[in-house]
Amino acid sequence: MAIKVETQAAQRSNADVLVVPMPKTKKGAKLAHGGLDRALGGQLKAAFVNGAFSGRVQETRMLVPTGGVKAKRVVLCGIGEKDEFSEECVRRAVGAAARVAGRSASVSIALHAVPGDAARAAEAAVVGWRLASYKFTKFKSDRKKGRPAGLSLMTSTAKAAATRAGAKIGDAVAQGVATARDLGNNPGNYMTPTILARSARAMAKATGLKARVLTEAQMGALGMGSLLSVSRGSVEPAKLIILEHGRKSKSRPTVCLVGKGLTFDTGGISIKPAGDMDKMRYDMCGGAAVVGAMEAVARLKLPLHVIGIVPSSENMPGSKATKPGDIVTAMNGKTIEVLNTDAEGRLILADALCYAQRYNPGLVIDLATLTGAVLVALGKHMAGMMGTDDASMGALQAAGRATHERVWQLPLDDDYDAQMKGRSADLHNIGGRHAGTVTAAQFLRHFTGDLNWIHLDIAGTAWDDATRVYNKGVGATGYGVRLLTRFLQERARR
Ligand code: BES
Ligand code: MN
Ligand code: ZN
Repeated sequence: MAIKVETQAAQRSNADVLVVPMPKTKKGAKLAHGGLDRALGGQLKAAFVNGAFSGRVQETRMLVPTGGVKAKRVVLCGIGEKDEFSEECVRRAVGAAARVAGRSASVSIALHAVPGDAARAAEAAVVGWRLASYKFTKFKSDRKKGRPAGLSLMTSTAKAAATRAGAKIGDAVAQGVATARDLGNNPGNYMTPTILARSARAMAKATGLKARVLTEAQMGALGMGSLLSVSRGSVEPAKLIILEHGRKSKSRPTVCLVGKGLTFDTGGISIKPAGDMDKMRYDMCGGAAVVGAMEAVARLKLPLHVIGIVPSSENMPGSKATKPGDIVTAMNGKTIEVLNTDAEGRLILADALCYAQRYNPGLVIDLATLTGAVLVALGKHMAGMMGTDDASMGALQAAGRATHERVWQLPLDDDYDAQMKGRSADLHNIGGRHAGTVTAAQFLRHFTGDLNWIHLDIAGTAWDDATRVYNKGVGATGYGVRLLTRFLQERARR
């Protein structure tokens, strides 16, 4: 549903729920939204004066209007002090408001008191609202079927055009995130490589992207022995999903996005312990982020040539499964001794990264739930970033700060290769206890040729079941969609 932009004061809203982001103000300072306060009979000012509400980030306060304002509920949400203000304050504030607002047919968000760039504020408000409202209810028999609430943004005439532009961006980004979350949240029996490929095709058809899906036979003909060694133990055939946006251009080199699409990772013959194994449904979240980012890029019609590549497989034990010690050959001819079948992500990425080279891209970014070790290093707040292109890594870091999908750089260095030097083959696929995240990336480097390449290990950020914030506590977070979309937007601007 399209987002309306209204150039009116907040108190004129016709919506059921009126959300009002408010900065934290010193006692005695003039309050924003004086007109709304008068229409509410002084309730707004009173909330500040008597300490019921201070404007702290994520603080909310529900007011029930008595005449004067049509909304049934007014939800104040704090965006914090002016000097600590960022887009994230708006996303969190509006997200917190969405959680307390309850179900309603229509919502207005009054952005008059939000400082900074009006387009970014509008984008953040839409993203915060939509992401906090996200629920994965597909398998709940009592799910409520109602339509999502109609959303409008209220602002001044001066900021209307920027607000409209920002709302459009927020809408596209939120849609991409929802797609990535839906793909990630489906359990293994509803998300196989075949289903992932079908979903990607359907998204491509709806948004005008080109889509191609390679079969195991086609991958075999290309020499993708590394990727195919992972799907051998499963009855579900592997797929290589390719999405294409825009046209090749000389001035703006192609960007490839590669995402690990392991629809379920049991570990294979090197099987994982039973506890929490269900979480390995999320092992395709890198692939989901690529599909979601491609959707956002397509909806935004970014003037860039972007290729999304998702190698997808299950990792299962089975009588045909790859066994520890088996030797396989990747598309570039390198041989790999598979000492641990649970280090499968790097095996499917190896061939996908070789394949990416045929597009002659200026940059390749891969996203993968690759190592438990990145959780030890960085926890759930940042993805590990390693790569060969310092300028693009700087830009990615900036996009991460702006979208709050943050990345933190870890090293790459040939000295780590010693940990993976093969005995009978060129390489083995594990690097021992030390620096597990770095050795996984260093392994991938053997398949990137001379590409400008960035690897993001998203094993810590791809899902979160605990904290209830707009971007957490929702199962699959869709991490990467906002980061990549912002990064590509900035790149298209150069
Ligand atoms: N998908 C896992 C990584 C993972 C672990 C993601 C925990 C999220 C949470 C990956 O395929 C894997 O199993 N990695 C192994 C590598 C090891 C065998 C070298 C790991 O991290 O334990
Ligand atoms: Mn694994
Ligand atoms: Zn895995």
